[in-house]
Amino acid sequence: MSCARGALCRACLALAAALAALLLLPLPRPPAPARLPAAVVVASPSLRPDDDIFIAVKTTRKNHGPRLGLLLRTWISRARPQTFIFTDGDDPELQRQAGSHIINTNCSAVRTRQALCCKMSVEYDKFIESGRKWFCHVDDDNYVNPTTLLHLLSTFSPNQDVYLGRPSLDHPIEATERVQGGGTATTVKFWFATGGAGFCLSRGLALKMSPWASLGSFMSTAERVRLPDDCTVGYIVEGLLGARLLHSPLFHSHLENLQRLPTDAVLQQVTLSYGGPENPHNVVNVAGFSLQQDPTRFRSVHCLLYPDTDWCPMQNRGGLPSR
Ligand SMILES: *[C@@H]1O[C@H](CO)[C@@H](O)[C@H](O)[C@H]1NC(C)=O
Repeated sequence: MSCARGALCRACLALAAALAALLLLPLPRPPAPARLPAAVVVASPSLRPDDDIFIAVKTTRKNHGPRLGLLLRTWISRARPQTFIFTDGDDPELQRQAGSHIINTNCSAVRTRQALCCKMSVEYDKFIESGRKWFCHVDDDNYVNPTTLLHLLSTFSPNQDVYLGRPSLDHPIEATERVQGGGTATTVKFWFATGGAGFCLSRGLALKMSPWASLGSFMSTAERVRLPDDCTVGYIVEGLLGARLLHSPLFHSHLENLQRLPTDAVLQQVTLSYGGPENPHNVVNVAGFSLQQDPTRFRSVHCLLYPDTDWCPMQNRGGLPSR
Protein backbone atom coordinates (compact mmCIF):
# COMPACT_ATOMS: atom_id res chain seq x y z
CA MET A 1 0.00 0.00 0.00
CA SER A 2 1.44 3.33 -1.08
CA CYS A 3 0.30 5.01 2.09
CA ALA A 4 2.59 2.80 4.12
CA ARG A 5 5.54 4.80 2.79
CA GLY A 6 4.26 7.73 4.82
CA ALA A 7 4.14 5.73 8.02
CA LEU A 8 7.74 6.26 8.99
CA CYS A 9 9.64 4.56 11.72
CA ARG A 10 7.37 1.57 12.23
CA ALA A 11 10.19 -0.16 14.08
CA CYS A 12 10.49 2.75 16.52
CA LEU A 13 6.75 2.64 17.11
CA ALA A 14 6.82 -1.11 17.65
CA LEU A 15 9.64 -0.65 20.17
CA ALA A 16 7.72 2.13 21.92
CA ALA A 17 4.62 -0.08 21.99
CA ALA A 18 6.59 -2.96 23.50
CA LEU A 19 8.06 -0.67 26.16
CA ALA A 20 4.64 0.78 26.93
CA ALA A 21 3.21 -2.73 27.27
CA LEU A 22 6.05 -3.65 29.62
CA LEU A 23 5.30 -0.61 31.73
CA LEU A 24 1.58 -1.53 31.62
CA LEU A 25 0.74 1.83 30.14
CA PRO A 26 -2.55 1.95 28.29
CA LEU A 27 -1.83 2.60 24.61
CA PRO A 28 -3.99 5.06 22.74
CA ARG A 29 -6.30 3.04 20.50
CA PRO A 30 -7.65 4.23 17.17
CA PRO A 31 -11.39 4.72 17.20
CA ALA A 32 -13.52 1.88 15.82
CA PRO A 33 -14.62 2.49 12.24
CA ALA A 34 -17.88 4.30 11.71
CA ARG A 35 -20.25 2.07 9.77
CA LEU A 36 -23.23 2.86 7.64
CA PRO A 37 -26.65 1.61 8.69
CA ALA A 38 -27.88 -1.27 6.53
CA ALA A 39 -31.25 0.34 5.89
CA VAL A 40 -31.38 3.39 3.68
CA VAL A 41 -33.42 6.32 4.96
CA VAL A 42 -33.81 9.16 2.49
CA ALA A 43 -32.87 12.42 4.24
CA SER A 44 -32.52 14.66 1.21
CA PRO A 45 -35.18 13.58 -1.29
CA SER A 46 -34.87 16.78 -3.30
CA LEU A 47 -31.29 16.07 -4.43
CA ARG A 48 -31.01 16.88 -8.15
CA PRO A 49 -28.22 14.84 -9.69
CA ASP A 50 -27.59 17.16 -12.64
CA ASP A 51 -27.06 20.25 -10.50
CA ASP A 52 -26.11 18.98 -7.05
CA ILE A 53 -23.54 16.25 -7.68
CA PHE A 54 -20.00 16.77 -8.99
CA ILE A 55 -18.27 13.59 -10.14
CA ALA A 56 -14.56 14.12 -10.84
CA VAL A 57 -13.00 11.45 -13.06
CA LYS A 58 -9.20 11.41 -12.81
CA THR A 59 -7.45 10.35 -15.98
CA THR A 60 -4.23 10.95 -17.91
CA ARG A 61 -3.53 11.75 -21.58
CA LYS A 62 -2.50 8.21 -22.51
CA ASN A 63 -5.77 6.77 -21.13
CA HIS A 64 -8.02 8.98 -23.27
CA GLY A 65 -8.40 6.26 -25.91
CA PRO A 66 -10.07 2.96 -25.04
CA ARG A 67 -10.07 3.43 -21.26
CA LEU A 68 -11.91 6.75 -21.03
CA GLY A 69 -13.81 5.96 -24.24
CA LEU A 70 -15.42 3.00 -22.46
CA LEU A 71 -16.63 5.28 -19.65
CA LEU A 72 -17.97 7.88 -22.11
CA ARG A 73 -19.95 5.19 -23.95
CA THR A 74 -21.24 3.64 -20.73
CA TRP A 75 -21.99 5.39 -17.43
CA ILE A 76 -20.86 8.92 -18.33
CA SER A 77 -23.43 8.94 -21.17
CA ARG A 78 -26.09 8.74 -18.42
CA ALA A 79 -24.47 11.29 -16.11
CA ARG A 80 -23.07 13.99 -18.41
CA PRO A 81 -24.21 17.11 -16.52
CA GLN A 82 -22.58 15.98 -13.26
CA THR A 83 -19.36 14.47 -14.65
CA PHE A 84 -16.07 16.39 -15.03
CA ILE A 85 -12.95 14.78 -16.47
CA PHE A 86 -9.58 15.86 -15.06
CA THR A 87 -6.62 15.13 -17.28
CA ASP A 88 -3.11 16.36 -18.04
CA GLY A 89 -3.00 17.00 -21.77
CA ASP A 90 -5.05 18.69 -24.48
CA ASP A 91 -7.07 16.40 -26.73
CA PRO A 92 -9.30 18.06 -29.35
CA GLU A 93 -11.19 14.81 -29.98
CA LEU A 94 -12.05 14.38 -26.29
CA GLN A 95 -12.92 18.08 -26.07
CA ARG A 96 -15.38 17.55 -28.91
CA GLN A 97 -17.05 14.69 -27.03
CA ALA A 98 -17.04 16.11 -23.52
CA GLY A 99 -16.95 19.87 -24.14
CA SER A 100 -16.50 22.13 -21.17
CA HIS A 101 -16.55 19.15 -18.82
CA ILE A 102 -12.99 18.22 -19.73
CA ILE A 103 -10.41 20.03 -17.59
CA ASN A 104 -6.71 20.10 -18.37
CA THR A 105 -5.16 20.38 -14.91
CA ASN A 106 -1.74 21.23 -16.41
CA CYS A 107 -0.35 18.81 -13.81
CA SER A 108 2.52 16.50 -14.77
CA ALA A 109 1.52 13.15 -16.31
CA VAL A 110 4.01 11.19 -14.20
CA ARG A 111 2.49 9.05 -11.45
CA THR A 112 4.31 10.73 -8.57
CA ARG A 113 2.71 11.81 -5.32
CA GLN A 114 3.13 15.45 -6.33
CA ALA A 115 1.46 15.01 -9.74
CA LEU A 116 -1.50 13.06 -8.29
CA CYS A 117 -1.93 15.59 -5.49
CA CYS A 118 -1.81 18.37 -8.08
CA LYS A 119 -4.84 16.81 -9.85
CA MET A 120 -6.76 16.29 -6.60
CA SER A 121 -6.09 19.91 -5.75
CA VAL A 122 -7.59 21.09 -9.09
CA GLU A 123 -10.59 18.73 -8.64
CA TYR A 124 -11.21 20.23 -5.20
CA ASP A 125 -10.99 23.84 -6.43
CA LYS A 126 -13.31 23.19 -9.39
CA PHE A 127 -15.84 21.55 -7.08
CA ILE A 128 -15.81 24.50 -4.66
CA GLU A 129 -16.20 26.87 -7.62
CA SER A 130 -19.15 24.84 -8.97
CA GLY A 131 -21.30 25.49 -5.89
CA ARG A 132 -22.56 21.89 -6.00
CA LYS A 133 -23.55 19.92 -2.89
CA TRP A 134 -21.55 16.71 -3.25
CA PHE A 135 -18.03 15.99 -4.49
CA CYS A 136 -17.25 12.47 -5.65
CA HIS A 137 -13.86 11.42 -6.99
CA VAL A 138 -13.38 8.32 -9.16
CA ASP A 139 -10.60 6.90 -11.31
CA ASP A 140 -10.77 6.15 -15.04
CA ASP A 141 -11.19 2.41 -14.32
CA ASN A 142 -14.37 2.90 -12.29
CA TYR A 143 -17.96 2.31 -13.39
CA VAL A 144 -20.28 4.64 -11.48
CA ASN A 145 -23.96 3.74 -11.11
CA PRO A 146 -25.52 7.22 -11.08
CA THR A 147 -28.81 5.95 -9.59
CA THR A 148 -27.34 4.15 -6.59
CA LEU A 149 -24.94 7.06 -6.02
CA LEU A 150 -27.91 9.44 -5.91
CA HIS A 151 -29.76 7.15 -3.49
CA LEU A 152 -26.74 6.89 -1.21
CA LEU A 153 -26.10 10.64 -1.13
CA SER A 154 -29.82 11.34 -0.57
CA THR A 155 -29.54 9.65 2.83
CA PHE A 156 -27.33 12.49 4.11
CA SER A 157 -27.47 16.25 4.32
CA PRO A 158 -24.71 18.04 2.36
CA ASN A 159 -24.39 20.45 5.31
CA GLN A 160 -23.24 17.62 7.59
CA ASP A 161 -19.64 16.40 7.67
CA VAL A 162 -19.84 13.44 5.29
CA TYR A 163 -16.83 11.51 3.96
CA LEU A 164 -17.92 8.25 2.35
CA GLY A 165 -15.87 5.47 0.81
CA ARG A 166 -14.06 2.18 1.16
CA PRO A 167 -11.00 1.99 3.41
CA SER A 168 -8.16 0.26 1.60
CA LEU A 169 -6.73 -1.17 4.80
CA ASP A 170 -8.49 -2.93 7.68
CA HIS A 171 -6.80 -0.66 10.19
CA PRO A 172 -6.14 3.07 10.38
CA ILE A 173 -2.94 4.41 8.86
CA GLU A 174 -0.28 6.13 10.90
CA ALA A 175 1.53 9.13 9.56
CA THR A 176 4.23 11.37 10.91
CA GLU A 177 3.51 15.07 10.88
CA ARG A 178 6.55 17.27 10.56
CA VAL A 179 6.27 20.56 12.30
CA GLN A 180 7.49 23.49 10.22
CA GLY A 181 11.17 24.23 10.82
CA GLY A 182 11.31 22.12 13.97
CA GLY A 183 12.79 18.74 14.71
CA THR A 184 9.66 17.49 16.43
CA ALA A 185 7.35 15.01 14.75
CA THR A 186 4.07 13.64 15.99
CA THR A 187 2.17 10.57 14.88
CA VAL A 188 -1.46 10.72 13.76
CA LYS A 189 -3.75 7.76 13.11
CA PHE A 190 -6.66 8.00 10.71
CA TRP A 191 -8.78 6.10 8.19
CA PHE A 192 -8.87 7.09 4.53
CA ALA A 193 -11.01 6.05 1.60
CA THR A 194 -9.06 4.43 -1.22
CA GLY A 195 -9.15 6.73 -4.26
CA GLY A 196 -9.30 3.75 -6.63
CA ALA A 197 -12.77 2.83 -5.36
CA GLY A 198 -14.09 6.39 -5.45
CA PHE A 199 -15.19 8.48 -2.47
CA CYS A 200 -17.54 11.37 -1.76
CA LEU A 201 -17.41 14.49 0.40
CA SER A 202 -20.28 16.75 1.40
CA ARG A 203 -19.97 20.44 0.60
CA GLY A 204 -20.15 21.23 4.31
CA LEU A 205 -17.07 19.14 5.02
CA ALA A 206 -15.26 20.24 1.84
CA LEU A 207 -15.59 23.88 2.90
CA LYS A 208 -14.06 23.11 6.30
CA MET A 209 -11.12 21.47 4.49
CA SER A 210 -10.36 24.69 2.66
CA PRO A 211 -7.37 25.92 4.78
CA TRP A 212 -5.52 22.66 3.94
CA ALA A 213 -6.94 21.95 0.49
CA SER A 214 -7.78 25.05 -1.52
CA LEU A 215 -5.70 26.90 -4.12
CA GLY A 216 -2.75 24.54 -4.03
CA SER A 217 -2.49 24.15 -0.25
CA PHE A 218 -3.55 20.50 -0.73
CA MET A 219 -0.08 19.89 -2.16
CA SER A 220 1.76 21.44 0.79
CA THR A 221 -0.46 19.44 3.17
CA ALA A 222 0.44 16.23 1.31
CA GLU A 223 4.13 17.15 1.47
CA ARG A 224 3.92 17.79 5.19
CA VAL A 225 2.83 14.20 5.85
CA ARG A 226 4.41 12.75 2.66
CA LEU A 227 1.22 10.95 1.72
CA PRO A 228 -0.47 10.21 -1.62
CA ASP A 229 -3.60 12.12 -2.66
CA ASP A 230 -6.30 9.84 -1.21
CA CYS A 231 -4.49 9.41 2.11
CA THR A 232 -4.08 13.18 2.36
CA VAL A 233 -7.87 13.62 2.08
CA GLY A 234 -8.27 11.20 5.02
CA TYR A 235 -5.57 13.05 6.95
CA ILE A 236 -7.34 16.40 6.53
CA VAL A 237 -10.80 14.99 7.34
CA GLU A 238 -9.93 12.72 10.27
CA GLY A 239 -6.52 13.90 11.43
CA LEU A 240 -7.01 17.66 11.20
CA LEU A 241 -10.79 18.20 11.33
CA GLY A 242 -11.73 15.29 13.62
CA ALA A 243 -14.52 14.14 11.27
CA ARG A 244 -14.94 10.45 10.40
CA LEU A 245 -14.84 8.28 7.31
CA LEU A 246 -18.11 6.43 6.86
CA HIS A 247 -17.08 2.99 5.61
CA SER A 248 -19.26 1.96 2.70
CA PRO A 249 -19.13 -1.48 1.09
CA LEU A 250 -20.73 -0.08 -2.09
CA PHE A 251 -17.47 1.33 -3.50
CA HIS A 252 -15.05 -1.03 -5.29
CA SER A 253 -11.48 -0.78 -6.55
CA HIS A 254 -9.30 -3.11 -8.60
CA LEU A 255 -7.37 -3.90 -5.39
CA GLU A 256 -10.13 -6.20 -4.13
CA ASN A 257 -11.36 -9.54 -5.45
CA LEU A 258 -14.20 -8.38 -7.70
CA GLN A 259 -15.25 -11.91 -8.65
CA ARG A 260 -16.40 -12.38 -5.07
CA LEU A 261 -19.19 -9.80 -5.49
CA PRO A 262 -22.45 -11.79 -5.86
CA THR A 263 -23.92 -11.46 -9.37
CA ASP A 264 -27.27 -10.21 -8.09
CA ALA A 265 -25.53 -7.51 -6.02
CA VAL A 266 -23.42 -6.05 -8.85
CA LEU A 267 -26.13 -3.68 -10.07
CA GLN A 268 -26.73 -2.35 -6.52
CA GLN A 269 -23.16 -1.07 -6.06
CA VAL A 270 -22.13 2.59 -6.35
CA THR A 271 -18.78 1.97 -8.08
CA LEU A 272 -17.14 -1.02 -9.79
CA SER A 273 -13.69 -1.57 -11.26
CA TYR A 274 -11.64 -4.16 -13.17
CA GLY A 275 -8.20 -5.69 -12.85
CA GLY A 276 -6.79 -4.47 -16.15
CA PRO A 277 -3.98 -6.05 -18.16
CA GLU A 278 -2.00 -7.14 -15.07
CA ASN A 279 -4.98 -8.97 -13.59
CA PRO A 280 -7.50 -9.57 -16.41
CA HIS A 281 -9.52 -12.18 -14.49
CA ASN A 282 -10.37 -9.76 -11.70
CA VAL A 283 -13.72 -8.59 -13.05
CA VAL A 284 -17.30 -8.63 -11.78
CA ASN A 285 -19.32 -11.68 -12.65
CA VAL A 286 -22.27 -10.65 -14.83
CA ALA A 287 -23.95 -12.22 -17.85
CA GLY A 288 -23.95 -10.39 -21.16
CA PHE A 289 -21.25 -9.90 -23.77
CA SER A 290 -18.46 -12.48 -24.03
CA LEU A 291 -15.22 -11.86 -22.13
CA GLN A 292 -13.55 -11.21 -25.50
CA GLN A 293 -16.13 -8.55 -26.43
CA ASP A 294 -16.29 -7.04 -22.97
CA PRO A 295 -13.15 -7.84 -20.95
CA THR A 296 -13.96 -5.23 -18.25
CA ARG A 297 -17.66 -6.33 -17.97
CA PHE A 298 -18.64 -2.61 -17.95
CA ARG A 299 -20.58 -2.91 -21.22
CA SER A 300 -22.54 -5.89 -19.85
CA VAL A 301 -23.28 -4.05 -16.59
CA HIS A 302 -24.38 -1.01 -18.59
CA CYS A 303 -26.77 -3.04 -20.75
CA LEU A 304 -28.34 -4.61 -17.65
CA LEU A 305 -28.84 -1.16 -16.12
CA TYR A 306 -29.83 0.65 -19.34
CA PRO A 307 -31.19 -1.93 -21.83
CA ASP A 308 -32.51 0.87 -24.07
CA THR A 309 -28.91 1.90 -25.01
CA ASP A 310 -28.60 1.76 -28.82
CA TRP A 311 -25.58 -0.60 -28.83
CA CYS A 312 -27.08 -3.06 -26.35
CA PRO A 313 -28.52 -6.26 -27.84
CA MET A 314 -32.26 -6.05 -28.57
CA GLN A 315 -32.95 -9.26 -26.64
CA ASN A 316 -31.57 -7.43 -23.63
CA ARG A 317 -35.01 -6.05 -23.00
CA GLY A 318 -36.09 -9.57 -22.17
CA GLY A 319 -32.86 -10.53 -20.39
CA LEU A 320 -29.33 -10.98 -21.73
CA PRO A 321 -28.20 -14.32 -23.12
CA SER A 322 -25.77 -15.94 -20.69
CA ARG A 323 -22.13 -15.97 -21.68
C1 LIG B 1 -4.03 25.15 -17.89
O1 LIG B 1 -3.36 26.03 -18.77
C2 LIG B 1 -4.23 26.67 -19.72
C3 LIG B 1 -3.35 27.46 -20.68
O2 LIG B 1 -2.44 28.26 -20.01
C4 LIG B 1 -5.22 27.55 -18.98
O3 LIG B 1 -6.10 28.17 -19.88
C5 LIG B 1 -6.02 26.68 -18.01
O4 LIG B 1 -6.89 27.48 -17.24
C6 LIG B 1 -5.07 25.91 -17.08
N1 LIG B 1 -5.86 24.98 -16.27
C7 LIG B 1 -6.00 25.08 -14.96
C8 LIG B 1 -6.85 24.06 -14.30
O5 LIG B 1 -5.48 25.95 -14.32
